Amino acid sequence: MKKFNFHIKPIGLLDMLHFKKMVPRRREILRSGSLEPITAVYGVNRLAQSLHPKQQKAVVSEIIPRKDAKTYVLKAGKLAYFRAGQYVSVKLKIGGAVTARPYTLAGSPARALEGEYEITVKKAQDGFVSDYILANWEVGTEVTLSGPEGPFSYEPLRDEKEVVGLAGGSGITPFMAMARAIRDGVEDFSLTLLYGSRTKADILYAAELEEICAATDKVRVVHVLSEEKAEGFEHGFIDAELIQKYAPENYTLYICGPRAMHDFLSHEIPGLDLDEKHIRREFVPAPSSPEYFKSYTGDASQVYTLTLHFLGEEKEIALRADEPVLTAIERAGIAAPSRCRSGECGWCRSRLIGGEVFIPESMDGRRLADAGAGYVHPCSSWALSNLEMEIFPE
Ligand code: FES
Repeated sequence: MKKFNFHIKPIGLLDMLHFKKMVPRRREILRSGSLEPITAVYGVNRLAQSLHPKQQKAVVSEIIPRKDAKTYVLKAGKLAYFRAGQYVSVKLKIGGAVTARPYTLAGSPARALEGEYEITVKKAQDGFVSDYILANWEVGTEVTLSGPEGPFSYEPLRDEKEVVGLAGGSGITPFMAMARAIRDGVEDFSLTLLYGSRTKADILYAAELEEICAATDKVRVVHVLSEEKAEGFEHGFIDAELIQKYAPENYTLYICGPRAMHDFLSHEIPGLDLDEKHIRREFVPAPSSPEYFKSYTGDASQVYTLTLHFLGEEKEIALRADEPVLTAIERAGIAAPSRCRSGECGWCRSRLIGGEVFIPESMDGRRLADAGAGYVHPCSSWALSNLEMEIFPE
Protein backbone atom coordinates (compact mmCIF):
# COMPACT_ATOMS: atom_id res chain seq x y z
CA MET A 1 0.00 0.00 0.00
CA LYS A 2 1.29 3.45 -0.89
CA LYS A 3 2.24 5.64 2.07
CA PHE A 4 1.79 9.38 2.19
CA ASN A 5 3.85 11.48 4.54
CA PHE A 6 2.19 14.64 5.78
CA HIS A 7 4.16 17.16 7.72
CA ILE A 8 2.01 19.38 9.91
CA LYS A 9 3.88 22.35 11.25
CA PRO A 10 3.03 23.10 14.88
CA ILE A 11 1.61 26.53 15.61
CA GLY A 12 4.52 28.67 16.63
CA LEU A 13 4.91 31.78 18.73
CA LEU A 14 4.98 34.08 15.67
CA ASP A 15 1.67 32.65 14.44
CA MET A 16 0.12 33.25 17.83
CA LEU A 17 1.32 36.86 17.79
CA HIS A 18 -0.06 37.29 14.29
CA PHE A 19 -3.50 36.04 15.34
CA LYS A 20 -3.41 38.21 18.42
CA LYS A 21 -2.72 41.34 16.40
CA MET A 22 -5.30 40.56 13.72
CA VAL A 23 -8.34 41.95 15.55
CA PRO A 24 -6.71 45.23 16.71
CA ARG A 25 -5.26 45.68 13.21
CA ARG A 26 -8.71 45.32 11.65
CA ARG A 27 -10.13 47.78 14.17
CA GLU A 28 -7.38 50.25 13.29
CA ILE A 29 -8.09 49.94 9.55
CA LEU A 30 -11.83 50.47 10.10
CA ARG A 31 -11.17 53.48 12.36
CA SER A 32 -8.87 55.18 9.83
CA GLY A 33 -11.15 54.43 6.86
CA SER A 34 -13.14 57.06 4.96
CA LEU A 35 -16.60 58.01 6.19
CA GLU A 36 -17.79 58.14 2.57
CA PRO A 37 -20.41 55.49 1.79
CA ILE A 38 -19.05 52.42 0.01
CA THR A 39 -19.05 52.99 -3.76
CA ALA A 40 -21.90 51.45 -5.67
CA VAL A 41 -19.60 50.92 -8.68
CA TYR A 42 -17.08 48.16 -8.18
CA GLY A 43 -13.75 48.09 -10.00
CA VAL A 44 -14.78 45.09 -12.07
CA ASN A 45 -17.95 46.89 -13.18
CA ARG A 46 -15.95 49.97 -14.11
CA LEU A 47 -13.67 47.77 -16.24
CA ALA A 48 -16.70 46.13 -17.88
CA GLN A 49 -18.16 49.57 -18.65
CA SER A 50 -14.92 50.72 -20.28
CA LEU A 51 -14.74 47.55 -22.37
CA HIS A 52 -18.43 47.54 -23.30
CA PRO A 53 -19.71 51.12 -23.13
CA LYS A 54 -23.31 51.64 -24.19
CA GLN A 55 -22.37 54.92 -25.80
CA GLN A 56 -19.16 56.64 -26.97
CA LYS A 57 -18.48 60.06 -28.47
CA ALA A 58 -15.86 60.68 -31.14
CA VAL A 59 -14.96 63.37 -33.63
CA VAL A 60 -14.26 62.96 -37.36
CA SER A 61 -10.56 63.75 -37.66
CA GLU A 62 -9.89 62.76 -41.26
CA ILE A 63 -11.90 61.84 -44.35
CA ILE A 64 -10.37 59.63 -47.05
CA PRO A 65 -12.40 59.77 -50.28
CA ARG A 66 -12.83 56.50 -52.19
CA LYS A 67 -14.93 55.49 -55.21
CA ASP A 68 -18.59 55.71 -54.11
CA ALA A 69 -17.41 55.70 -50.49
CA LYS A 70 -15.55 57.64 -47.83
CA THR A 71 -13.41 56.41 -44.96
CA TYR A 72 -13.90 58.35 -41.73
CA VAL A 73 -11.17 58.36 -39.10
CA LEU A 74 -12.81 58.96 -35.72
CA LYS A 75 -10.87 60.13 -32.68
CA ALA A 76 -11.57 60.51 -28.97
CA GLY A 77 -9.52 60.65 -25.79
CA LYS A 78 -10.58 57.10 -25.09
CA LEU A 79 -12.38 54.49 -27.17
CA ALA A 80 -13.25 50.92 -26.27
CA TYR A 81 -10.97 48.15 -27.54
CA PHE A 82 -12.50 45.80 -30.09
CA ARG A 83 -11.92 42.46 -31.79
CA ALA A 84 -11.05 42.73 -35.50
CA GLY A 85 -14.34 42.15 -37.33
CA GLN A 86 -16.64 43.86 -34.82
CA TYR A 87 -18.86 46.85 -35.58
CA VAL A 88 -20.21 49.94 -33.87
CA SER A 89 -23.74 51.28 -34.22
CA VAL A 90 -23.69 54.94 -35.31
CA LYS A 91 -26.58 56.93 -33.86
CA LEU A 92 -28.05 59.72 -35.99
CA LYS A 93 -30.81 62.29 -35.96
CA ILE A 94 -31.88 63.01 -39.51
CA GLY A 95 -34.73 65.49 -39.77
CA GLY A 96 -37.44 64.18 -37.45
CA ALA A 97 -36.09 60.62 -37.48
CA VAL A 98 -33.84 59.07 -34.86
CA THR A 99 -31.95 56.12 -36.25
CA ALA A 100 -28.76 54.08 -36.06
CA ARG A 101 -26.65 52.04 -38.46
CA PRO A 102 -23.99 49.40 -37.86
CA TYR A 103 -20.57 50.06 -39.44
CA THR A 104 -17.66 47.66 -39.15
CA LEU A 105 -14.52 49.01 -37.53
CA ALA A 106 -11.98 48.73 -40.34
CA GLY A 107 -8.88 49.97 -38.51
CA SER A 108 -6.48 47.92 -36.44
CA PRO A 109 -7.60 47.22 -32.86
CA ALA A 110 -4.13 48.50 -31.88
CA ARG A 111 -5.24 52.00 -32.97
CA ALA A 112 -8.29 51.84 -30.68
CA LEU A 113 -5.89 51.91 -27.73
CA GLU A 114 -4.78 55.32 -29.03
CA GLY A 115 -8.39 56.53 -29.27
CA GLU A 116 -8.86 55.95 -33.00
CA TYR A 117 -11.51 54.08 -34.98
CA GLU A 118 -12.04 53.91 -38.71
CA ILE A 119 -15.26 53.22 -40.60
CA THR A 120 -15.99 53.25 -44.32
CA VAL A 121 -19.39 54.37 -45.56
CA LYS A 122 -20.35 53.30 -49.06
CA LYS A 123 -23.04 54.94 -51.13
CA ALA A 124 -25.94 52.51 -51.11
CA GLN A 125 -29.08 52.09 -53.16
CA ASP A 126 -31.95 53.58 -51.11
CA GLY A 127 -29.19 54.66 -48.73
CA PHE A 128 -31.08 57.17 -46.57
CA VAL A 129 -28.44 57.05 -43.83
CA SER A 130 -25.32 56.55 -45.96
CA ASP A 131 -26.39 59.46 -48.20
CA TYR A 132 -26.80 61.63 -45.11
CA ILE A 133 -23.38 60.72 -43.70
CA LEU A 134 -21.58 61.12 -47.02
CA ALA A 135 -23.15 64.55 -47.56
CA ASN A 136 -22.93 65.92 -44.04
CA TRP A 137 -20.03 64.53 -42.05
CA GLU A 138 -16.96 66.71 -42.20
CA VAL A 139 -13.76 67.03 -40.19
CA GLY A 140 -14.85 68.12 -36.71
CA THR A 141 -18.31 66.50 -36.81
CA GLU A 142 -19.12 64.90 -33.45
CA VAL A 143 -20.55 61.41 -33.71
CA THR A 144 -22.26 59.11 -31.21
CA LEU A 145 -21.41 55.41 -31.31
CA SER A 146 -22.31 52.27 -29.41
CA GLY A 147 -19.60 50.12 -27.92
CA PRO A 148 -18.05 47.49 -30.23
CA GLU A 149 -20.44 44.64 -30.97
CA GLY A 150 -20.72 41.42 -32.92
CA PRO A 151 -19.31 37.89 -33.03
CA PHE A 152 -17.66 38.09 -36.50
CA SER A 153 -14.13 37.89 -35.12
CA TYR A 154 -11.42 35.22 -35.03
CA GLU A 155 -11.76 32.77 -32.18
CA PRO A 156 -8.63 30.59 -31.74
CA LEU A 157 -10.46 27.90 -29.76
CA ARG A 158 -13.04 27.38 -32.48
CA ASP A 159 -11.42 28.48 -35.76
CA GLU A 160 -8.63 26.91 -37.79
CA LYS A 161 -5.27 28.68 -37.89
CA GLU A 162 -5.94 29.39 -41.58
CA VAL A 163 -8.87 31.60 -42.49
CA VAL A 164 -10.30 32.05 -45.98
CA GLY A 165 -12.21 35.33 -46.20
CA LEU A 166 -14.80 35.96 -48.90
CA ALA A 167 -15.54 39.67 -49.28
CA GLY A 168 -17.83 41.52 -51.65
CA GLY A 169 -17.80 45.32 -52.11
CA SER A 170 -17.87 47.14 -48.77
CA GLY A 171 -17.83 43.71 -47.09
CA ILE A 172 -14.06 44.16 -47.15
CA THR A 173 -14.12 46.23 -43.92
CA PRO A 174 -13.98 43.41 -41.30
CA PHE A 175 -11.20 41.76 -43.30
CA MET A 176 -9.31 45.08 -43.41
CA ALA A 177 -9.42 45.10 -39.60
CA MET A 178 -8.28 41.44 -39.49
CA ALA A 179 -5.44 42.01 -42.00
CA ARG A 180 -4.25 45.05 -40.06
CA ALA A 181 -4.53 43.17 -36.76
CA ILE A 182 -2.41 40.31 -38.19
CA ARG A 183 0.18 42.78 -39.48
CA ASP A 184 0.29 44.54 -36.08
CA GLY A 185 0.67 41.26 -34.20
CA VAL A 186 -2.71 41.64 -32.47
CA GLU A 187 -4.17 38.52 -34.12
CA ASP A 188 -2.34 35.30 -34.87
CA PHE A 189 -3.80 33.52 -37.88
CA SER A 190 -3.25 33.45 -41.65
CA LEU A 191 -5.77 35.10 -43.95
CA THR A 192 -6.37 34.25 -47.59
CA LEU A 193 -8.80 36.84 -48.84
CA LEU A 194 -10.85 36.46 -52.02
CA TYR A 195 -12.21 39.93 -52.65
CA GLY A 196 -14.92 40.43 -55.27
CA SER A 197 -15.34 43.82 -56.97
CA ARG A 198 -16.91 44.89 -60.24
CA THR A 199 -13.80 46.49 -61.76
CA LYS A 200 -10.28 47.40 -60.61
CA ALA A 201 -11.49 50.95 -59.96
CA ASP A 202 -14.15 49.61 -57.53
CA ILE A 203 -11.67 47.88 -55.21
CA LEU A 204 -11.78 49.52 -51.79
CA TYR A 205 -8.52 49.77 -49.83
CA ALA A 206 -6.50 48.54 -52.86
CA ALA A 207 -3.25 50.30 -51.87
CA GLU A 208 -3.54 49.44 -48.17
CA LEU A 209 -4.15 45.76 -48.96
CA GLU A 210 -1.04 45.70 -51.15
CA GLU A 211 1.02 47.28 -48.37
CA ILE A 212 -0.18 44.73 -45.82
CA CYS A 213 0.59 41.80 -48.15
CA ALA A 214 4.10 43.23 -48.61
CA ALA A 215 4.54 43.60 -44.84
CA THR A 216 3.44 40.10 -43.81
CA ASP A 217 3.25 36.73 -45.55
CA LYS A 218 0.29 35.81 -43.31
CA VAL A 219 -2.08 37.87 -45.49
CA ARG A 220 -2.72 37.02 -49.13
CA VAL A 221 -5.29 38.79 -51.30
CA VAL A 222 -6.85 37.51 -54.52
CA HIS A 223 -8.94 40.07 -56.38
CA VAL A 224 -11.91 38.76 -58.33
CA LEU A 225 -13.41 41.13 -60.91
CA SER A 226 -16.90 40.45 -62.23
CA GLU A 227 -17.01 43.09 -64.98
CA GLU A 228 -13.40 43.45 -66.09
CA LYS A 229 -10.69 41.11 -67.32
CA ALA A 230 -7.20 42.06 -66.21
CA GLU A 231 -3.85 40.31 -65.83
CA GLY A 232 -3.15 39.21 -62.28
CA PHE A 233 -6.87 39.29 -61.38
CA GLU A 234 -9.40 36.48 -61.32
CA HIS A 235 -12.50 37.04 -63.42
CA GLY A 236 -16.12 36.14 -62.59
CA PHE A 237 -17.71 35.45 -59.23
CA ILE A 238 -16.30 33.84 -56.12
CA ASP A 239 -17.52 30.25 -56.47
CA ALA A 240 -16.60 26.84 -55.02
CA GLU A 241 -13.98 26.19 -57.72
CA LEU A 242 -12.19 29.47 -57.00
CA ILE A 243 -12.31 28.93 -53.24
CA GLN A 244 -10.81 25.45 -53.65
CA LYS A 245 -8.08 26.85 -55.92
CA TYR A 246 -6.74 29.13 -53.16
CA ALA A 247 -7.86 27.51 -49.90
CA PRO A 248 -5.34 25.62 -47.75
CA GLU A 249 -6.12 22.08 -46.57
CA ASN A 250 -7.83 23.02 -43.30
CA TYR A 251 -9.50 26.36 -42.94
CA THR A 252 -12.38 28.35 -41.50
CA LEU A 253 -14.46 30.30 -43.98
CA TYR A 254 -15.53 33.88 -43.17
CA ILE A 255 -18.08 35.59 -45.43
CA CYS A 256 -19.04 39.27 -45.56
CA GLY A 257 -20.77 40.92 -48.47
CA PRO A 258 -24.12 41.93 -49.92
CA ARG A 259 -27.20 39.74 -49.60
CA ALA A 260 -26.93 38.65 -53.26
CA MET A 261 -23.42 37.33 -52.61
CA HIS A 262 -24.59 35.30 -49.60
CA ASP A 263 -27.45 33.89 -51.66
CA PHE A 264 -25.09 32.93 -54.50
CA LEU A 265 -22.62 31.33 -52.08
CA SER A 266 -25.36 29.30 -50.39
CA HIS A 267 -25.42 27.19 -53.58
CA GLU A 268 -21.61 27.01 -53.83
CA ILE A 269 -20.65 26.20 -50.25
CA PRO A 270 -22.14 22.67 -50.17
CA GLY A 271 -19.59 21.82 -52.89
CA LEU A 272 -16.74 22.63 -50.50
CA ASP A 273 -17.53 19.77 -48.14
CA LEU A 274 -16.86 22.10 -45.22
CA ASP A 275 -18.31 21.48 -41.78
CA GLU A 276 -20.91 24.16 -40.85
CA LYS A 277 -18.95 24.96 -37.68
CA HIS A 278 -16.14 26.22 -39.92
CA ILE A 279 -18.35 28.70 -41.75
CA ARG A 280 -18.79 32.17 -40.25
CA ARG A 281 -21.21 34.62 -41.81
CA GLU A 282 -21.44 38.34 -41.04
CA PHE A 283 -24.97 39.69 -40.47
CA VAL A 284 -26.75 40.87 -43.60
CA PRO A 285 -29.00 43.92 -43.11
CA ALA A 286 -32.68 43.80 -44.12
CA PRO A 287 -33.41 44.14 -47.84
CA SER A 288 -35.27 47.19 -49.11
CA SER A 289 -38.54 45.22 -49.43
CA PRO A 290 -39.94 42.03 -47.84
CA GLU A 291 -40.84 40.93 -51.38
CA TYR A 292 -37.18 39.93 -51.65
CA PHE A 293 -38.11 36.81 -49.66
CA LYS A 294 -39.94 34.04 -51.53
CA SER A 295 -41.91 33.19 -48.38
CA TYR A 296 -43.48 36.69 -48.18
CA THR A 297 -47.22 36.56 -48.80
CA GLY A 298 -48.23 40.07 -47.65
CA ASP A 299 -49.15 43.16 -49.64
CA ALA A 300 -46.12 45.46 -49.52
CA SER A 301 -48.13 48.45 -50.79
CA GLN A 302 -50.25 48.62 -47.61
CA VAL A 303 -49.89 51.23 -44.89
CA TYR A 304 -51.00 49.99 -41.46
CA THR A 305 -51.16 51.54 -38.00
CA LEU A 306 -48.79 50.76 -35.15
CA THR A 307 -49.91 51.43 -31.59
CA LEU A 308 -46.70 51.74 -29.68
CA HIS A 309 -46.15 51.52 -25.92
CA PHE A 310 -42.85 52.81 -24.53
CA LEU A 311 -41.71 54.34 -21.23
CA GLY A 312 -45.29 54.58 -20.01
CA GLU A 313 -46.45 56.42 -23.15
CA GLU A 314 -48.72 55.29 -25.96
CA LYS A 315 -48.46 56.57 -29.52
CA GLU A 316 -50.08 55.68 -32.82
CA ILE A 317 -47.89 55.86 -35.92
CA ALA A 318 -48.15 54.99 -39.62
CA LEU A 319 -46.62 51.66 -40.55
CA ARG A 320 -45.58 50.96 -44.13
CA ALA A 321 -45.73 47.26 -44.97
CA ASP A 322 -42.67 47.46 -47.22
CA GLU A 323 -40.19 48.47 -44.52
CA PRO A 324 -39.14 46.86 -41.23
CA VAL A 325 -41.21 47.88 -38.21
CA LEU A 326 -38.07 49.40 -36.65
CA THR A 327 -37.79 51.90 -39.50
CA ALA A 328 -41.37 53.10 -38.94
CA ILE A 329 -40.68 53.63 -35.23
CA GLU A 330 -37.51 55.60 -35.98
CA ARG A 331 -39.23 57.61 -38.70
CA ALA A 332 -41.71 58.74 -36.01
CA GLY A 333 -38.79 60.18 -34.03
CA ILE A 334 -38.81 57.51 -31.34
CA ALA A 335 -35.36 56.28 -30.30
CA ALA A 336 -35.82 52.52 -30.40
CA PRO A 337 -32.84 50.41 -29.34
CA SER A 338 -30.94 48.66 -32.13
CA ARG A 339 -27.48 47.44 -33.09
CA CYS A 340 -27.16 44.89 -35.92
CA ARG A 341 -30.45 45.65 -37.78
CA SER A 342 -30.44 42.11 -39.11
CA GLY A 343 -32.42 40.19 -36.52
CA GLU A 344 -29.42 38.68 -34.74
CA CYS A 345 -28.26 40.72 -31.75
CA GLY A 346 -31.58 41.05 -29.91
CA TRP A 347 -31.08 44.71 -28.88
CA CYS A 348 -34.39 45.72 -30.50
CA ARG A 349 -36.34 42.88 -28.81
CA SER A 350 -39.95 44.07 -28.37
CA ARG A 351 -43.27 42.59 -27.25
CA LEU A 352 -45.90 42.09 -29.91
CA ILE A 353 -49.23 42.68 -28.18
CA GLY A 354 -51.48 42.42 -31.23
CA GLY A 355 -51.39 41.89 -35.00
CA GLU A 356 -49.32 39.77 -37.34
CA VAL A 357 -45.80 40.21 -38.67
CA PHE A 358 -43.69 38.54 -41.36
CA ILE A 359 -40.29 37.34 -40.12
CA PRO A 360 -38.15 35.64 -42.78
CA GLU A 361 -36.56 32.45 -41.50
CA SER A 362 -33.04 33.61 -42.45
CA MET A 363 -33.45 36.74 -40.29
CA ASP A 364 -35.18 35.18 -37.30
CA GLY A 365 -32.52 35.36 -34.59
CA ARG A 366 -34.99 35.12 -31.69
CA ARG A 367 -34.56 32.66 -28.86
CA LEU A 368 -37.15 29.91 -28.96
CA ALA A 369 -38.60 31.04 -25.61
CA ASP A 370 -38.92 34.63 -26.91
CA ALA A 371 -40.64 33.51 -30.09
CA GLY A 372 -43.07 31.44 -28.01
CA ALA A 373 -43.79 34.34 -25.67
CA GLY A 374 -44.62 36.74 -28.51
CA TYR A 375 -41.42 38.76 -28.64
CA VAL A 376 -40.17 40.01 -32.01
CA HIS A 377 -37.16 41.86 -33.39
CA PRO A 378 -38.67 44.88 -35.21
CA CYS A 379 -35.52 45.26 -37.37
CA SER A 380 -36.38 41.98 -39.11
CA SER A 381 -40.19 42.07 -38.90
CA TRP A 382 -42.61 43.45 -41.48
CA ALA A 383 -46.26 44.25 -40.73
CA LEU A 384 -48.99 42.04 -42.19
CA SER A 385 -51.74 43.91 -40.32
CA ASN A 386 -52.23 46.76 -37.85
CA LEU A 387 -49.94 46.14 -34.89
CA GLU A 388 -49.73 46.87 -31.19
CA MET A 389 -46.26 46.61 -29.68
CA GLU A 390 -44.23 47.51 -26.62
CA ILE A 391 -40.62 48.59 -27.07
CA PHE A 392 -37.98 49.01 -24.39
CA PRO A 393 -35.82 52.10 -25.10
CA GLU A 394 -32.32 52.10 -23.57
S1 FES B 1 -31.09 45.39 -33.96
FE1 FES B 1 -30.17 43.45 -33.68
S2 FES B 1 -31.89 42.12 -33.58
FE2 FES B 1 -32.75 44.02 -34.08
